[in-house]
Order: sequence, then structure tokens, then C-alpha cells
Amino acid sequence: MKVEVVLTEAEIAQEFAEAIEARDLPEKFFFWSPRSAQAWRTLSGDEDLFGGLTATWAALAAHADVFTRQFSKRIPVISFGAGDGARDRLLLEGLKQAALEQDGPDCHYFPVDASQTLLELACAGADDDDFETTGIKADISSPVHLVYAADAAEPPRLFIMSGNTLGAFDPLAEVRYISQCLRARDVLIVDGEIYQESETTARREHPAVRDFLAALLRSVGIGASDGELRFEDRTDERRHGLHQITRSFRAERDLVAAVNGEQVPLQRGERIGLNFQYAYTPDTFRWLLRQQGGLEIDHEYTSPDGRFLTAVCRK
Ligand SMILES: C[S@@+](CC[C@H](N)C(=O)[O-])C[C@H]1O[C@@H](n2cnc3c(N)ncnc32)[C@H](O)[C@@H]1O
Repeated sequence: MKVEVVLTEAEIAQEFAEAIEARDLPEKFFFWSPRSAQAWRTLSGDEDLFGGLTATWAALAAHADVFTRQFSKRIPVISFGAGDGARDRLLLEGLKQAALEQDGPDCHYFPVDASQTLLELACAGADDDDFETTGIKADISSPVHLVYAADAAEPPRLFIMSGNTLGAFDPLAEVRYISQCLRARDVLIVDGEIYQESETTARREHPAVRDFLAALLRSVGIGASDGELRFEDRTDERRHGLHQITRSFRAERDLVAAVNGEQVPLQRGERIGLNFQYAYTPDTFRWLLRQQGGLEIDHEYTSPDGRFLTAVCRK
């Protein structure tokens, strides 16, 4: 297994300690421990929650030859926030089939992720399927790391950002960072979660979502009975149709979190901000890609459950 490390475990551990001190935990820590990675795999494999998105990736795989015509010898597939790579592998298989039928190009897969556990799974899965694979352990919220990962291969390249990963950051900034990596003839496949007020609210109560959030808290010794998870649906005033779902933990008694061998006291009533997620109206998602990212949308796929909109874009 080949993995290039731009973001080290020691750096993540240091950032994690600082984030707990600041009472604000960004997305990458929710996939960091093996327990969190397992909780994410259970969540992302849930048919009710992610079955629609998986169907979209199967449809993309079936049409893979349509948006990869400009690739001649080799398709570098660079997936930002690849997770365990399960959805990426659907597309890789589609590309492999298209190549076999039409004597087309081979893929070189580059999963990019901060989670060592998930990155190993993505690399092992693609290795098992006989794809040449190079994992890149990097921070996809950093423009410098994104450019480093993008430069792992010469253009044209196929970039992927799936599972509403864009919505786990400030999407207006993140889409610009991603766009800066794209060159002429590169393709980007990116999805966004469509805001549906009642369903978005109901999803918060799903046991797999709560288990996923609780896995990180458990890793620092905070249990379900120590406090309460709270969700808030906010409108981002920068654009109509831009919604931010925030999550937080509120301590119901005085607690001590154990972080890298240090004790961090938390007082009753204190809140820790957890990772957030953006969701959009379809038009706002298109606006994000076109106006903020400077991208052209060539194809769109709405998942059968209406939860995700996936766009195939270029610059
Ligand atoms: C919502 S999951 C999506 C995973 C996968 N693309 C899918 O569709 O199932 C987000 C992924 O991004 C990774 N991630 C989150 N923040 C990151 C960061 N700052 N740098 C690198 N990876 C990050 C997580 O480890 C996780 O694998």
C-alpha cells in the first residue's frame, strides 16, 4: 500500500487538543479514530440515508465513458475526502468496463483523506480491485494541501468530492480552493445535499447519525448520559437557499475529557461545537459551482430519493 503523508498523525493530535480547548471540533476529527471510521461506514452504508447517493454513483459509472472522452492513455482519479472509497470504486469499475469495451484508458486512483483508517481502507479496496493506487494523507481544507494532491498527476484529471463533503466546510471558500486546482480538460464530479426541511430535521434523529457523533465524544471519555446533542438549522445570509445545520454537545454536569493523555475540564452547561453540514436548494448549489467556483456544469444527476444533486463540471 502506497500512502504519501502531507498531514501527520502528530499534527492531527495537536490540532485535536487545540480544538477541544477551543470547544469547536471541525469535520476531520469525526473520522479520525478507528471507532469513528467504523461509525461513519455504518452511517454511509445505511440504505435509507445514502442509498440514493449510491444509486447516483452507479448511474455515473454506467455513463462513465461520456465524461471521460478527453482522456487518452490514463485517467488519474483524485478523490478529495475519499472516505473508505466505496462510492469511488463504483465509478472506477465503470471506467474499467468502458476501457475494456472500447480499449480505453486505465485509471490511477488517488484517494485523499485525513483519516488514516479510512485512507487505508480506500487504498486496500482499490488495490484488491487491481487499480494502481496512491493514497494521500492531507488536509482538504488547506488550499496548499489541495494543490499538492492535485499535482500528484498531470492534467487531464478526474476529481471527485462526494458524500456532501463540500458542505462540511464553508462551501463558498472550499469550492474556490477546489476550482483553483482544476486545469483545462479536467473534470470534477461533486455532490451537494438538497435542503428539505422536514426530512433534514428527521435525519438528525437517525440512530446511525447519533452513533457517528457519539463515537468522537466517546473517544475522549464523554458518554451519552453526560450531556445532550443539539441540532440547529440556520440560514446563511450570504445567499438565499444556503442552509447550515449545526450540531453541538451541551454538558449536563461537570465533566473531564481525556485528550491525548491530558485532562480537559468541562463545566456543566458548557457547549462544544461539533461539525456542521451545509444543504442547498438546487439553484443555490448551481450558483455555488458557477458563480463561486467559476465552473461549467455539463451533466446533473438527482439521486432517486431527491436528497443529493451531483454535478459533472469543468472549468
Ligand atoms: C462525508 S465523508 C465522505 C466520504 C466519501 N467521499 C463518501 O462519499 O462516502 C467526508 C470525508 O472527508 C474526510 N475529511 C473531512 N475533513 C477533512 C479534512 N479537513 N482533510 C481531509 N479529509 C477530510 C473525512 O475523513 C471523510 O472521509
